[in-house]
Parts: sequence; C-alpha cells; structure tokens
Amino acid sequence: MATMQDNQTWSGRFNEPVAELVKRYTASVDFDNRLALFDIQGSLAHAQMLASCGIISAQDLKDIQRGLAQIENEIIAGDFVWQLDLEDVHLNIEKRLTTLVGDAGKRLHTGRSRNDQVATDIRLYLRSSIDDIVGLLKALQTSLLDLAHHHTHTIMPGFTHLQVAQPVSFAHHMMAYFEMCQRDVERFGDARKRVNRLPLGAAALAGTSYPIKREMVAELLGFESVCQNSLDAVSDRDFAIEFTAAAALVMTHLSRLSEELILWMSPRFGFIDIADRFCTGSSIMPQKKNPDVPELVRGKTGRVNGHLVALLTLMKGQPLAYNKDNQEDKEPLFDTVDTLTQTLRIYADMMRGITVKPEAMRRAALQGYATATDLADYLVKKGLPFRDAHEAVALAVRHAEQKGCDLADLKLDELQLFSSLIADDVYAVLTLEGSLAARNHTGGTAPQQVEAAIARARKLLSA
Ligand code: ARG
Repeated sequence: MATMQDNQTWSGRFNEPVAELVKRYTASVDFDNRLALFDIQGSLAHAQMLASCGIISAQDLKDIQRGLAQIENEIIAGDFVWQLDLEDVHLNIEKRLTTLVGDAGKRLHTGRSRNDQVATDIRLYLRSSIDDIVGLLKALQTSLLDLAHHHTHTIMPGFTHLQVAQPVSFAHHMMAYFEMCQRDVERFGDARKRVNRLPLGAAALAGTSYPIKREMVAELLGFESVCQNSLDAVSDRDFAIEFTAAAALVMTHLSRLSEELILWMSPRFGFIDIADRFCTGSSIMPQKKNPDVPELVRGKTGRVNGHLVALLTLMKGQPLAYNKDNQEDKEPLFDTVDTLTQTLRIYADMMRGITVKPEAMRRAALQGYATATDLADYLVKKGLPFRDAHEAVALAVRHAEQKGCDLADLKLDELQLFSSLIADDVYAVLTLEGSLAARNHTGGTAPQQVEAAIARARKLLSA
C-alpha cells in the first residue's frame, strides 16, 4: 500500500502529497513552537491519567516521561529541530517522542485530539502570562505610588477640555493612574478564572470512548475546573478575547498617560522631564530630545486594540466545533503578550526616571483662573445661590482678564464690586493651597486625602 509522506501523521488516506505552498500556508510551527513547554506539561498530565486509568501501561508512561524530559531539555538548549513538514508544535513533539521511545510515543495521543490539546496549551500559556502581567502591573503601581508620595503638595492645573480647570496635586493625578492599573489587575484576575478551565478530554469534539478522568488531569495541571461541554471546550476562545480586551485596556490607559507625558515634556508645558535613556535625538535637529517611548506606547496601543478586533472577527463566523480558523488566534495573542509585557516593564522604569518641575506646574496653575470655582463656593457659603455666585465670579474673571492679572491680585474693594459679600477672608480661598485643602473628602485632591489614598494603595499592593 502506498502511503504518502511518512512525515505526515494523518497522510494515510491521501492520494497525493500536500503542495509545498499549502504546507507552508497551513503550518503553524514557526510560531506555535512557543507553546512547546506547555504542550509537554499537558502531555505529561494526560499520560499520567491514561496510565492511572489503565489505558496505557506503567512502562509506557515511564517511556513517555523519559522521552518528554529529553525533548524538554533539547528545546531549552535550542537543539530541537522543528520541521515544517510536521505542521505544528504538537506533531513535532509527538514525532520526536516516537523516535526516542517507540510505541509508547504512539500511544500518547490515545483519547486526545490536537483540538483539545491546543486549547489546553493556550490556556496554560495565558495563565502564566497573566501571572507575569499582574506582577508587572504591580511594579508600575509601585512606581506611581513612589512618585505620588513626593508630590502631594506639588500643585498643577487640573484640566477639562485641556483648559485649566481647577488646581490638583501632581500626586492626585498620578493616583488616578494607580486606580486604572488597579482595575486592570482586577480584570486580569477575573479573566484568569475563565482561562483556568481544562478542555482536555473533549478530544476532537464529542469526547472520547476511553474511560478517562478529566478531573485528575485538571488537578495535575492546576486548573480550577473542567470545561463542561466537549463541543464548547474545543471551540471556545472567549477566554483569549477577554484576555486581549483586558490587555487593550491596559494599553489604552498607558496611551493616555503617554499623551500626557508627551504634552508635559513639551516646552509649552515644561512640567516634567523624562530621563535621557527613554528618549532619542533627531538626525537633523541637534537640539531635539524626543519622548520616543511614550509615543511608541501610544502607537503600539493601536496594534493591541487591533488584535482584539482580529480575535472577535476570527470567531464571529465559526460554526461549532473546532475549525482551522482557530490557528489564527496565536499570533495576535503572542504579540499582545509581548507588547504588553515589554511596555509595562519599560513604563515602570520610566516613571521612576521622571523629573517633576513644580515651579512650572505652579505657574501654569496660576494662569488660568483655576480658583474661580473656589470664589463661587465662598460666595455660596456666605448665602448667595450658586447660579448668582457663578455669574458674579464670571464678571470678576473678565475684569481680571482685562487687567491682565489673577483673581488674587485684585484689591478687596475691586472684588467687592462683584459682590458685597466678599470680605478680607477671601484671599485664603483664592490661593492654590486653599483650593486644594478645601477638597477634603474621599477621592478629593486635599493633601491629607491623597496621603490617605496612598496609604490605602500601599496596603492593597502588599496584601
Ligand atoms: N495547529 C492547530 C491550531 O493551532 C492545532 C489543532 C489542529 N487540529 C486539526 N484538527 N487540524 O489550531
């Protein structure tokens, strides 16, 4: 009987070899070899279960363990030869195992399909990636806290519509990003629960006729539960989409912070400086120092957001159960993990290397009538309805603007032109410090509140 290529595990029923171009088109080993160690981990658990259920012999199990241990060493040492002919990571490892240990290697795939195998590998990979990412997010949060800690009294303009709105502390501004990162940590923790379920045992789609113990495999691999429906187990990629959505949100947060760092570093603002090691110069303009890292983070956010859309689109037309389309989930996922982990690693370091320029921030806060709301609140406390107070202050601001000075520079009798309720004590509320101190409630920018927020955050991080 003429079988086609020896190399192709499934080639028995084919009458001609797969075209070279098709082989390259359908192979995934160039990128899915990244899953190799998780694939081995999954195979070891599967084999152990097969032996414990009497589906393979104890000797087979020993041979499989010995072979996989050697393969793992070869992969780690970079000596493993990946073959395109063998299509993907799973068949490459299985073939090598059979070469090393003979028939036991051929028995490993009993009661299993690449469909439940690959789903298991990706889940193991993402679970470990999530744990890395959460660690990196916490490192970034620590950088933000350290920065905030030194700047609870550093006053900058808070903006709405990018117009000076009200004074806030730089610490308060940094703590806003701490909150975003904290939600990111929570989101990954939540996604992890749905990542951490075992598809293995679903086999190709319908389950297997062997008396397997899925719960045992789940326990061996540290999965919290087993996927409850075999069709869903092999075809579900919700967990990958959730992961990528969480990653896209982290990138979106960092992209917003990047936009601020870029603005703040521009001489028009001059609020901060970014350490030289995160910047580059221009090949033509000798004076330039460009905030390349934040710019690239902003740019790379586009690609992670793109991966999210790619995965959603990958799934939307697929009938149950497994389809080869799913092979396309890997590159977006891998690139998402790489982009996010590199970005977080750099960011935590970059935030530690930021020089804050309090005088420039203060000057800017003094320029935009940032305490106008405080004057209105002052009038309200003296009995004026808020809308009337708003109007009186608007007129006072216009007057100060015409004179080219700040509200605090107006003489008392000048201020009294706008409301007879204004007295000497008004100057205390017109200062930036007074404005900050007045916002003294949970979530407010008063130094006392921000210090409390930092203390709460430190506790959360060490928990
Ligand atoms: N390389 C494939 C993937 O990434 C593995 C599963 C292939 N299954 C199959 N029946 N062709 O999805």
